[in-house]
Amino acid sequence: MNQMRLFAFDFNGPAHLSAGLWRHPADRGRDYRSLKYWVEYAKMLEDACFDGIFFADNVGYHDVYKGSVDAALKDGAQIPANDPAYLIPAMAAATKHLGFGVTSTTAYDHPYALARKFSTLDHLTNGRIGWNVVTSYSDSAAKNLGTGVQKAHDDRYELAEEFIEVALKLWEASWEDGSVPADAASGTYTDPTRIHPIGHQGKHFTVPGIALCEPSPQRTPVIFQAGGSSKGVALAAATAEAVFMNATSKAGLKKQVDTLRAKAVEAGRDPSHIAVLQMITVITAPTDAEAQAKYEEYKSYVSYEGAMARYSGWAGLDMSAFDPDVPFKNVKTNAGQTMVDLFSKMDPTKEWTPRDIADYIGIGRHVPRHRGQPPDSRRRAHLLGQRDRHQRLQHRARGQVPGHQGLRRRRRPRAAAARADAHGLRRLDPAREPLRRRPGPAGR
Ligand SMILES: Cc1cc2nc3c(=O)[nH]c(=O)nc-3n(C[C@H](O)[C@H](O)[C@H](O)COP(=O)(O)O)c2cc1C
Repeated sequence: MNQMRLFAFDFNGPAHLSAGLWRHPADRGRDYRSLKYWVEYAKMLEDACFDGIFFADNVGYHDVYKGSVDAALKDGAQIPANDPAYLIPAMAAATKHLGFGVTSTTAYDHPYALARKFSTLDHLTNGRIGWNVVTSYSDSAAKNLGTGVQKAHDDRYELAEEFIEVALKLWEASWEDGSVPADAASGTYTDPTRIHPIGHQGKHFTVPGIALCEPSPQRTPVIFQAGGSSKGVALAAATAEAVFMNATSKAGLKKQVDTLRAKAVEAGRDPSHIAVLQMITVITAPTDAEAQAKYEEYKSYVSYEGAMARYSGWAGLDMSAFDPDVPFKNVKTNAGQTMVDLFSKMDPTKEWTPRDIADYIGIGRHVPRHRGQPPDSRRRAHLLGQRDRHQRLQHRARGQVPGHQGLRRRRRPRAAAARADAHGLRRLDPAREPLRRRPGPAGR
């Protein structure tokens, strides 16, 4: 029987994907500033047998709608945006098995600093950290982080390739296993003969020296990716251990998974070693009718401006230029057309207006949603991903307690080995389990 993997999906701010729902009386979005809130949340997820929590992040903000950030600010649309990495040690200290995925961009960070950050998190979580590699998409990030203008899409991926290469060298090739004897008798904390400069000289980065951190339990964090373009899929096929998808239908999901697997084979990898996680929104209640009523109530809170601020940012298209009530398919804009196709494919019988889109994405973005009593929700969620071993449920846990019913406690980590590749880099064993604690290197 297929085993379901469950990850919560959240953001270190008052509101993530759902527009306007922070106004719901049961919403606890504003508690994002409190460590106590996140610690309780982590415990709740672990008690409910979730495998992990995944934090989205952005270093820019949505300022495409009406050419201003105002609508995003008013709705708390992914701004304010605190750094998720600082939450992890506290959440890890309160749990034993929960995994943590943290999004971090290759566009405005440096691999030397990022490698240090994730080694630190891997030490403090005892091997429960994953890195979601993103290449960023917003001009506002480029403006504020000093580069002024965003690099072209494919150039961002080219930079990401080198970024990952440098980080892997730092994690895998600098400090040997057993290089830290911490031997008081000989006065040797670290054995200098077993520490190696990585000597990286590339197009974007020059990193001649050694890594700053001693090897952590996993050495390299689990590598997540979520890019959907051909460049994004190629990078994921070559380097990711888990890929997030936001397909709108079962057929669409199958197509994406098949493409990823085929590219993984081309990259010389066993395609079954890449976990695939599909984002879905789940709304449960004791009966289907109550779940539907809950959904309708949530919908009554959706903010059009908040949804459009997000959608305009994601699509790179100012939606204020369009009549909210005119079917969007008549708009002759390439970017808009692409996004319209997304919705018309989901329901070809419907003429989607911007208002329909706002209503739809207002709760959990454009991913499939399941509402009903828990057993039915589970069955439908399972059917969505039955062709794949790994799935993911997005769960709006703020203000709600995920049901315990039927979520079996899963088997705990399998040890993973590492092997040397032809370039002398100790690589990840692709069979290793994502976000699972693995034994530390010898000599720790
Ligand atoms: C489920 C999912 C979650 C994502 N989370 C983030 C995120 O937290 N931060 C971010 O900058 N991009 C995020 N993205 C965007 C992608 O990682 C990627 O940068 C974007 O899709 C552009 O790449 P592409 O053209 O290859 O699709 C996410 C995408 C998906 C599908």
